[in-house]
Amino acid sequence: MTDQAVEDWNGEVGERWLKNLDAFESMISPVNAALMKAAAFKPGERVVEVGCGGGKNAVEIARAVAPSGEYLGVDISELLVEHCRKRAAEAGVENASFLCADAGTAKPDAPRERAFSSFGVMFFENPEKAFGNIRGWVKPGGDFVFSCWAPPEMNPWIGIVGAIAGKYVEMLERDPDGPGPFRMADPDATKALLESAGWKDVECTLWRGEQLVGGEGATPESAAGFVLEALAIGEPVKEAGGPELVEKARADIVEALKPFHKDGSIRMDAASWIVTAKA
Ligand SMILES: C[S@@+](CC[C@H](N)C(=O)[O-])C[C@H]1O[C@@H](n2cnc3c(N)ncnc32)[C@H](O)[C@@H]1O
Repeated sequence: MTDQAVEDWNGEVGERWLKNLDAFESMISPVNAALMKAAAFKPGERVVEVGCGGGKNAVEIARAVAPSGEYLGVDISELLVEHCRKRAAEAGVENASFLCADAGTAKPDAPRERAFSSFGVMFFENPEKAFGNIRGWVKPGGDFVFSCWAPPEMNPWIGIVGAIAGKYVEMLERDPDGPGPFRMADPDATKALLESAGWKDVECTLWRGEQLVGGEGATPESAAGFVLEALAIGEPVKEAGGPELVEKARADIVEALKPFHKDGSIRMDAASWIVTAKA
């Protein structure tokens, strides 16, 4: 497990995710619904989830494979794994267990039929090694279904707020090959990566839909708060300037989001890949 990944997800980044969990889960709910439909879990299956986050999918998957199937959630963040354990217990789910480990190197016990991830595969230190490791968790004939973001140009929700943040502070250049949300945006590269890690029949299907920025029911004001408090993009603005700069950026973001306030939420175009591969 790399110190940086643990530091991020078990520290500030994980804390931000947990603090804003309802908004994050609600924001990605349209693409998550498509991902769960593609996975179509059935009773009796044994499933492992990579980067189980706050545990929404854990509960849904465990219920879908019950009573004889089993769910295992693997996440690098102890903070988030603890939350998942509590959430599963509160939901009365008995066939779910969790492992705090780096999915890139962990060796869970028995092989399973299905591997799954919702935006949990873009942060590995060594992606080829990690996808090869996960390949070893799945029985021959089993599969891996996961989501990852399509390019930023197809996700204006990130470009618009990024441009506003860039007006106030110098934003760091994104390393397209480094860990981050858009690292697997190129489907040809994803296919080559998975094949080199031993996966077969790799397919990347484009999902296009709406992203509910700030979650269902957000207003331009609450969504601007979410951008500044919950997204990594808000950090440099808060770090660089005092409260005055933050309030200027907030006012700009509110204005930019107003045209997207429709049917009671902030609805912006979004695109992601739904990737399927066979073991
Ligand atoms: C963007 S969040 C997605 C969370 C959740 N799957 C969801 O859709 O709500 C990414 C998750 O991957 C986890 N993660 C990052 N790197 C990981 C690694 N190397 N091994 C296991 N989990 C990892 C993080 O701790 C975090 O929970």
